[in-house]
Amino acid sequence: MSAGGGGVVETGVRAGGDPGAVESGFRASEPAARFLRACRRLTVDRTPVWFMRQAGRYMPEYRAIRAKHSLLDICRQAELAAQVTLQPVEALGVDAAILFSDILLPLIPMGAELEMVEGRGPVIHNPLRQAADLGSLRELQPEQDLGFVLQTIQILRRQLPEQVPLIGFAGAPFTLAAYLIEGGASRDFRRTKRLMLQQPAAWRALMEKLARAMGEYLAAQVRAGVQAVQLFDSWVGALGPEDYQACAQPYSRQVLQQVAATGVPAIHFGTGTAGLLPAMRQAGGEVIGVDWRIPLDQAWQTLGPAVGIQGNLDPAALHAPRPELERRVLQILAQAGGRPGHIFNLGHGVLLDTPVEALRSVVEIVHRQQPEPVEAR
Ligand code: CP3
Repeated sequence: MSAGGGGVVETGVRAGGDPGAVESGFRASEPAARFLRACRRLTVDRTPVWFMRQAGRYMPEYRAIRAKHSLLDICRQAELAAQVTLQPVEALGVDAAILFSDILLPLIPMGAELEMVEGRGPVIHNPLRQAADLGSLRELQPEQDLGFVLQTIQILRRQLPEQVPLIGFAGAPFTLAAYLIEGGASRDFRRTKRLMLQQPAAWRALMEKLARAMGEYLAAQVRAGVQAVQLFDSWVGALGPEDYQACAQPYSRQVLQQVAATGVPAIHFGTGTAGLLPAMRQAGGEVIGVDWRIPLDQAWQTLGPAVGIQGNLDPAALHAPRPELERRVLQILAQAGGRPGHIFNLGHGVLLDTPVEALRSVVEIVHRQQPEPVEAR
């Protein structure tokens, strides 16, 4: 067995007397579900696996619901959101469920005029372009503003099997700020960087507001019953290490500290982050999510053994012929090398035209392997 490499990770933080913390299944000692065990770097019988964007249009069951409801409608109707969350759990046999919602949803009650445009993605019709716009951004009150999300969580905790924990999530301040400023997707984040460099006080005020809002939002999700959270900093790879450290990291840290105080583990995810990993680790998270642009073993070497890793299959690999897909999945498991704390996932979300069968194969391949715990290397 493991030389106790993972050991019993006593975080020492426990939401004392908070019934949410007990209900969330987190014990300061040992959780049973393999996903939660991996979050704590405990030994596991099989490497846990789930997929970012595991609910979505690649699934016929999802498309059937989407034919009748908009994305935002699904998010706002707790019963529907819960139903969609469960679809990949049933179809793929993954080891965790992720709440069906969107990182941009909390920006609506904060004042963003968000529209999900078919074929184009999210558009914010009133982007923040100057310091004066920032004042119009309201503080978030999760219980009042996003009660339907919390209700979805409560429904899911009743419906999900014990061995499939529920992951809550939020966008990291940088990624949310980028959407608010650009008004949608961006190639170079020109406006975001301009505001960041030219108006540092306004940037700070915006990032503080977003950090406070997301910290409160994640804490509310934990009280409602999520058993882990993921902080999505999807676009942070646009920043160099110096700007990350000065202009993004303090705010992600603030959010992750608020999560740590609840006792629930956090996955801290970004893409294009090879040069940012040490600074992301400093910001917090029991597990760091990495994409395929860095080999998993190299990422782990950079981060050190005292943190878990989630990743990192290229979502495009799901289109490869089955033997090639299998080779790549096994390669990632070999790179993890039996270290405690590996959660198998893609390096980014499932792509639109992914065959369901390929995802099912990945789950099956990962679950066929028994992680061979190795001595710390
Ligand atoms: O299954 C899950 O992962 C849970 C649900 C989830 C969605 N969005 C639903 C969704 C999660 C975790 C997200 C996070 C999210 N949303 C991120 C971070 C992760 C990442 O991909 O980097 C970002 C950047 C967004 C913003 C967003 N929402 C974009 C860019 C898009 C359009 C692009 C696309 O894939 O169509 C959305 C829309 C969206 N959010 C869909 C889904 C399932 C598209 C499907 C639909 O319209 O029904």
